[in-house]
Amino acid sequence: MAYPKVTVVGAGNVGATTAELILLKGLADVTLVDVVDGVPQGKALDLMHMRSHEQFGPEVRGTSNYAETAGSDLVVVTAGVPRKPGMTREDLIDVNAGIVKAVLDAALPTSPDATFIFVTNPLDVMVNLAAHISGLPKSRLMGMGGALDTARYKYAIAKACQVEPSAVEAMVVGAHGQGMVPLVSNAKVAGKPLSEILSPEQITEVRAETVAGGGQVVELLKTGSAFYAPAASICQMVAAILQDTKGTISTCAKLEGEYGLDGLYMCVPCLLGAQGMEGVVELNLAPDELEQLKVAATSIKGQLEGLA
Ligand code: LAC
Repeated sequence: MAYPKVTVVGAGNVGATTAELILLKGLADVTLVDVVDGVPQGKALDLMHMRSHEQFGPEVRGTSNYAETAGSDLVVVTAGVPRKPGMTREDLIDVNAGIVKAVLDAALPTSPDATFIFVTNPLDVMVNLAAHISGLPKSRLMGMGGALDTARYKYAIAKACQVEPSAVEAMVVGAHGQGMVPLVSNAKVAGKPLSEILSPEQITEVRAETVAGGGQVVELLKTGSAFYAPAASICQMVAAILQDTKGTISTCAKLEGEYGLDGLYMCVPCLLGAQGMEGVVELNLAPDELEQLKVAATSIKGQLEGLA
């Protein structure tokens, strides 16, 4: 069977775990790329050894040479420096901007028709920067941030309500950082509005836990940041695109008038399918949520200006 071809740039924890999930779910052949020679090759070989037990169909190879990524359907960019304890995602801006530029210079010429999913932090700033550098159409350029924040929000709600996360419908929009907006107006638990189940204080708490989730993992690990939930979030987006599910996933995508914002990439609910980002879903937000979304947009714009 011929599988689609996914390139994962960055063979660190996020990249390697993403490759693992893509293989285990049988979604695509994976090319794992890293500048550190030996690491992508070693992790790919380890994953292929795992194939004897797990018996997944697709194959993985590791390389430091972008020629081997040619003709990819999807390119997932996880390369970048992660946070250290005490750092915000925004502190990474200058070093990671250089990495995003270098990856695009290398990956785009060999896979000109690919859809790109960026994961490098600070996520929303990097996606806007990638759009500026690459000129890719909005359908083929997006970032993973909202899907991860949504996973953490669902976890926090499920824990507070003592249910499984699968019983929770909720979404986080805004920036993948301090400008995160966990939506309350359309959050439901077993079909009931969240505001009828948790008190306003409890809702404030689960929202705060959502925003703090990534930082808590960084503090605990002491080196590096989260990777299991980020990889699962990337994989959810990859699956929606490769299997054309048209699932609604919070994605860092280009706004062109939706939510009263124009020309900026930030996390909003999007339909993901075979054409990539197939459309922004406009939810009916509460006025304070819309206001928080605008504050997040202003902060992303400010950081972009700082980069120029
Ligand atoms: C996090 C990093 C990956 O939220 O941004 O864990």
